[in-house]
Formats: sequence, structure tokens, C-alpha cells
Amino acid sequence: MEHLAVIFGNPVAQSKSPEMQMQFAKNADIKLRYLKVLTTLPQFEESLREWIEKGIVGANITVPFKEVVMPYCDRLTVEAEEAKAVNTIRIEADGSITGHNTDGIGLLRDITEIKGIDLTGKRVLILGAGGAVRGILAPLLAHQPASVVITNRTFSKAQLLAKEFCHLGEIEAVEREDLAESFDLIINGTSASLQNEFPPLPAGTITEGSIGYDLVYGDQPTIFMNYLLSEGGRAAYDGLGMLIEQGVYAFEFWFEKKPAIDGVMTIFGRNA
Ligand code: ATR
Repeated sequence: MEHLAVIFGNPVAQSKSPEMQMQFAKNADIKLRYLKVLTTLPQFEESLREWIEKGIVGANITVPFKEVVMPYCDRLTVEAEEAKAVNTIRIEADGSITGHNTDGIGLLRDITEIKGIDLTGKRVLILGAGGAVRGILAPLLAHQPASVVITNRTFSKAQLLAKEFCHLGEIEAVEREDLAESFDLIINGTSASLQNEFPPLPAGTITEGSIGYDLVYGDQPTIFMNYLLSEGGRAAYDGLGMLIEQGVYAFEFWFEKKPAIDGVMTIFGRNA
């Protein structure tokens, strides 16, 4: 039997999720047709109902619908509750909708399992305090880093996030100019890279052991990655691994089978 899944987004034309998910399906010996659905905020609900009627097993949800979809979910996973956003839904046998979020767990699986970085006892710096950062904090703290420092242009947003997640581990907000220690892992969760802008960090923040991870990715290394390496950091990664692993988790959520990722890198123009 052929399964059907979709991604809702606006814009959605650029999405590589169809090719990626269909490659996962091929690797897992599952028949899957996966389509892009371009919709609008006023038409989202109707579009969602229409595709559920067509029998989708589930869907990926991208910008700007990750919060919009939440009221239509009959239940949320812990990950979706903590992120306050849904990037994956599953349609249950009775037609009800379960909302999940695989972004944060996808990032953590990329960092720890694919890149082989053990976070236990490490010092982590997070730049940014928007939706992307909110989604990664709980899974990050679950790996028991020694400390997580969060900084943001609008400092009050960093403070609010630190307060909200402090029951899960060591997390504090620090103004960028007050950063006074080095970090093992620096995660860039600002959209500054996309604007090709990266203001310097205080001296001593990056040392030879520092690893950088940008949540975004592109054809070229991001400005943050270049900055980290030019300051003597050890390695810098972009967010492609996170994108792939969030997709792997979504696939597992629908089909209860973890797909191999063989053949996926080339979809993104990278060597396997
Ligand atoms: P996303 O969903 O990608 O997280 P967002 O919620 O709009 O998007 O958050 C964007 C983040 O990038 C915010 O932390 C934002 O800082 P502010 O909270 O001060 O707006 C940060 N950001 C965007 N452009 C930036 C820039 N040029 N310099 C520094 N931070 C920037």
C-alpha cells in the first residue's frame, strides 16, 4: 500500500522534505508519496481537513504554521508542549491529530550521535532567543551540560527563556558583552546569519576547543561558521544535519521504523 504525506508551508517551493522523506521511505522499504502544500493562514484549517480526508498518514509543518496548527491537535507530545510549536503531525486511526516537535531532538541526535559530541559536563552558549531556540532548550538540557548560557539582542527574551527552562537544568541569561568564559559548544540560533551579519563575540569566548553549530544551512558555510573558525575554533557545522534528523524522527513517528539516511546528502548537493 502507498502512504501519503505532505508538508504545509508558505513558502514551500524550496523545501527538500519531499525528496528527503521519499528517500527515507525507499531505504525503509515503505511506499510513500509526499507532496508540498502551499496554503495561507486563513485557509490553513480547510487545507488540513482536506488532506486528512485524502488519507495522509501525517504531515510536516513549516513556517508560518508551526504554532497555528496547535489548536487543531487533539494531543501534543512533551516535545511539542515544551517547544510551544509543532513541526510534525500524525493522523491516528480514529482521525484525531497528534502534534509533535522533532526539531530539538533532531538537533541533539545530530550533535551527539552523528557528530559524536558528548555534551555531559560541557559549557554551551546559545545565541538568540526566538522560536528556533525555544525548541532546542529542553532536549539540550536533557543531555546534562554543565551550563547553558543564553544571550540575545533583545536581552529580556533571553531572560524569559532562562526562567522558563531553569527547572530542567543549569541555564542563565547573560548580556553578550558580559560573556566572560569560554564555551565548548556555541549554537547560533539567530537569523543574523541569513542577513550575512555576525557581530564579534567578546575575546576568550571562542577557544581552540570550541565547536560551532549554526541552526541554518545554505550552499556555503554561514558567516557564523566562518567567524568561529577564524577565531580559532575547532569545528563548525551548519544546520543540515539537524534538518535531516528532524526528518528521520518525523518518519519514525509516522511509520515506527527508523530509516537509513543513505542517499540523502546528495539531495542537498553534498557529498555522502
Ligand atoms: P526563529 O523562529 O528563526 O527563531 P525568531 O523567533 O524571529 O525566528 O527569532 C530570531 C532570533 O534572531 C531572535 O533571537 C532575534 O533577536 P531579537 O529577539 O533581538 O529580535 C535574532 N536576530 C535576528 N536578526 C538579528 C541580528 N541582525 N543580530 C542579532 N540577532 C538577530
